[in-house]
Amino acid sequence: MRKKIVAANWKMNLDLTEGAELVNDIFNGSPQLTEHKIVVIAPPFIHLTHTGAQLVGMNHVHLGAQNCYSEASGAYTGEISAAMLKSAEVEYVIIGHSERREYFHEDDAMLAKKVNLALANGLKVIFCCGEPLAIRDANDQNAYVESQLIAGLFHLPVTALTDITIAYEPIWAIGTGRTATSAQAQDMHAHIRTVLGNKYGDTVAADTSILYGGSCKPSNAAELFACPDVDGGLIGGASLKAAEFLGIVAAMSNA
Ligand code: PGA
Repeated sequence: MRKKIVAANWKMNLDLTEGAELVNDIFNGSPQLTEHKIVVIAPPFIHLTHTGAQLVGMNHVHLGAQNCYSEASGAYTGEISAAMLKSAEVEYVIIGHSERREYFHEDDAMLAKKVNLALANGLKVIFCCGEPLAIRDANDQNAYVESQLIAGLFHLPVTALTDITIAYEPIWAIGTGRTATSAQAQDMHAHIRTVLGNKYGDTVAADTSILYGGSCKPSNAAELFACPDVDGGLIGGASLKAAEFLGIVAAMSNA
């Protein structure tokens, strides 16, 4: 049975005090979670040990990171390795976010190396894909996303797929207030599941969680999460306020 997941991607927001308060407020909001309905919190690197300590008493809330580097160790000033994340008790790492692809020029080959290092170090990967507006306008989104999955993941053996979650994040919906409609999300998620099934078989496809990201908020989360192939969300802006984030978590736990 695949998990439902709401993952918070704080991006480059919140200092240590603000982050600790947010996690505290989420804890006090008593989100209804189970083994199959979980939350992941991915703060900036500097928060990880603090946030990890806060999460110790919170059942089914897992620590995530927003990135890791594509080499195992060495002279890469300013970078953080997958092994370091593991040693900080991080469980999930986001790889391939469109902001990394665009602003930091992370290409498919680099992302595939990151995926390999994350998995080799025992991390679970939230692999992001999603098309820019011009591709959507040309109605080429299915082929575009498929090529991202092939380039980033399809070198993996089938056994590795248990540690992969996919996040579909149309770039035109990220931080823009313009959410994909639930029909657009469902169509793409079903396509991603078909693509996974063709490569890895129907069981793997059925067991892989596929999250939606892009201006997800309490007012649209329930409709998005009601779609049969939408297994939760990767949340940016709305993850920075406890009440909004808890509203989205509630939509997932009621779905
Ligand atoms: P958003 O970001 O919720 O602010 O649109 C989502 C993301 O980039 O993960």
